[in-house]
Amino acid sequence: MSVLRTKPIRDVLAQGEADGEDGRPGLRRRLGATDLMGFGIGIVIGTGIFTLTGIEAKNHAGPGVVISFAIAGVVALLAALCYAELASSVPTAGSAYTYAYATMGEIVAWIIGWDLLLEFALGSAVVARGWSGYLAELFDLPSAWFAEEGSVVNLGAIAIVLILGAVGIVGIRESARVTNLLVLVKVAICVFIVVAGAFFVKAANLSPFIPTTEPAGGGEDGIRQPVTQALFGLEPSVFGFAGVLTAAAVVFFAYTGFEAVANLGEETRKPRRDLPLGLLGTLGVSTVLYIGVSLVLVGMVRYTDIDEGAPIASAFEAVGAGWAAILVSIAAVAGLTSVILVDLVAMGRIGFAIGRDGLIPPSIAKVHPRWGTPYRISAIMTVGVALLAGFLPLSALADLVSIGALCAFVLVSIAVPILRRRRPELERPFKVPFSPVLPIVSALACLYLMLNLSVETWLRFLAWMLLGAIIYFGYGHRRNRLARREQIDKEGPLLNASGRAGAPS
Ligand code: ALA
Repeated sequence: MSVLRTKPIRDVLAQGEADGEDGRPGLRRRLGATDLMGFGIGIVIGTGIFTLTGIEAKNHAGPGVVISFAIAGVVALLAALCYAELASSVPTAGSAYTYAYATMGEIVAWIIGWDLLLEFALGSAVVARGWSGYLAELFDLPSAWFAEEGSVVNLGAIAIVLILGAVGIVGIRESARVTNLLVLVKVAICVFIVVAGAFFVKAANLSPFIPTTEPAGGGEDGIRQPVTQALFGLEPSVFGFAGVLTAAAVVFFAYTGFEAVANLGEETRKPRRDLPLGLLGTLGVSTVLYIGVSLVLVGMVRYTDIDEGAPIASAFEAVGAGWAAILVSIAAVAGLTSVILVDLVAMGRIGFAIGRDGLIPPSIAKVHPRWGTPYRISAIMTVGVALLAGFLPLSALADLVSIGALCAFVLVSIAVPILRRRRPELERPFKVPFSPVLPIVSALACLYLMLNLSVETWLRFLAWMLLGAIIYFGYGHRRNRLARREQIDKEGPLLNASGRAGAPS
């Protein structure tokens, strides 16, 4: 079946060469391991830690939210190990999309590419509106132009997307510099929160560490309930170990994004060594900071008294160190800014990889001869994200970012054993230990977290996928490179002689 055709690994590797197999300008190899970790931490540490920690401690897990962060970190680590193996053996700008194309077939690749576009485009748009709201609060700007709700046009969100989109287009080195600076600021402030907060921790606040289970008051129902609840008719409850697991599914959002590092495979000088370092280093740093920050938060304030809106800043105010709140706001703004930038960069690379394969018109995947970036597709997508962020209240759609990431993690985990079986001889500078057990556990864990998301999120996700299927069967299925090459192979002499088809572009 042609929808299951796979792309040969040698084609993937050849496309990643400096100027591509067809001599067109390719992406430029300008990044090292530190830059990759900068991009990774840049996109990972964002709103999640600053908002979800408080909400989940108060509503689902109590101080046990620390365990939730550890569990979510382990699940993310499993997925990152799988990414590290594939990224180091097949470094490419398409990441999960390309791994799927090489292992599971074109339709799966398209689905995952389409899914990643949703994750990164929506991620940047949602965060841009959050960024605008913070800016309005800091400088007392009019809510009609900057607030999440009630603004007709969110100018702040449009402006930040366009500015950061331009930085991303001008160059990967420029993007790395801006990201590294923002990351330094936010990591330094997170370390400060942990160290300063530790002085105000009271042991009494941490007991009981996991509060006893209670029935959930006014639980979500209808399409708002988690799929697990809808399928198995489970009675919603909060706290207890089940509450810790529910919170783990929610705070998993705080880890999403690290996979963007894998999209920089064609811009890294030593991808085989540095991609695993970038992926695993990002997760290591984020997990340690998340556990530290969540621990001091629940240690400073009793979980029942946590302020859901601004948990960390309010915790410092509650212990009489209100001056620290301003630092928390600066970290949040720096965090959000880098998330938007890396989202936009990663989105451009995925669009570039899909366009290069001809699943969308290849002319939009052109690389700029001087900047070395996929400027056309990046510009088109940046304008699309700016319009989304400018006109739609998107906070309700944040869960779509998580489901998009988790769906990619499931497929990447499955791709590891498939590629090992199909291409055992492929050089693998990094190998997931205990394969296929760990990749399978990773896929199941991610699937479990997906099932903890609401029925509503699943329906929206399926609607997006349906739109993707229409585009695939309407265009990409027949027009892509492999399809055209198959066509030429089949009817080659005739076609070439009549001049009706040239070499695939
Ligand atoms: N992981 C990113 C955040 O927490 C998306 O904002």
